Amino acid sequence: MSSKTPHPPGNETTGPRGHARRRFLAGAGAIAAAGLALLAPVWSGIRVVLDPLRRAGRDPSLVPVARLAALPADGVPRKFRVQADRVDAWNTQRNTPVGAVYLRRTDDSLQAFNVICPHAGCFVNLAPDQSRFVCPCHKSSFDLEGAVDDPSSPSPRDMDTLEVEIRDGDHVWVRFQNFLPGRADKTPVT
Ligand code: FES
Repeated sequence: MSSKTPHPPGNETTGPRGHARRRFLAGAGAIAAAGLALLAPVWSGIRVVLDPLRRAGRDPSLVPVARLAALPADGVPRKFRVQADRVDAWNTQRNTPVGAVYLRRTDDSLQAFNVICPHAGCFVNLAPDQSRFVCPCHKSSFDLEGAVDDPSSPSPRDMDTLEVEIRDGDHVWVRFQNFLPGRADKTPVT
């Protein structure tokens, strides 16, 4: 008596249904492999398209903000809106508001500060007596040099200074940039 048990017609592994199943699995595997092979170039293409967008905010140019004559030399800061071109991979928006700065001029210095509070991103105000900056959200306090001047201030760092220069004798240019709030280090937003 034989120990082999013959497979009946239509068995899952050797019958017509088994062949169909193997063909289906082989086809599905080929499709999956082709899909994976396509993903790499597609992802590379997406990165190429997005790269100009990622680069747009990385290296901000200096932009004109004010006339030097508009700044008193008494050390009291003045607030100015900043306009610049916004460029990404698809669009260029000319002369668009991008933020604001405080400019502070003394007899021998010129400083620029981003108006955004390093604690959580509110707009810092000049105190009514013009002796310091204060943030209305959680009461951070900064002196006119932008340094935290109250130990109870929640801001983890001083106000964010910006590169500033005078061109043609009377035009104040600023390299405007935003920085991540809530951190002790000054990390540009990119
Ligand atoms: Fe300025 Fe919190 S956002 S103190």
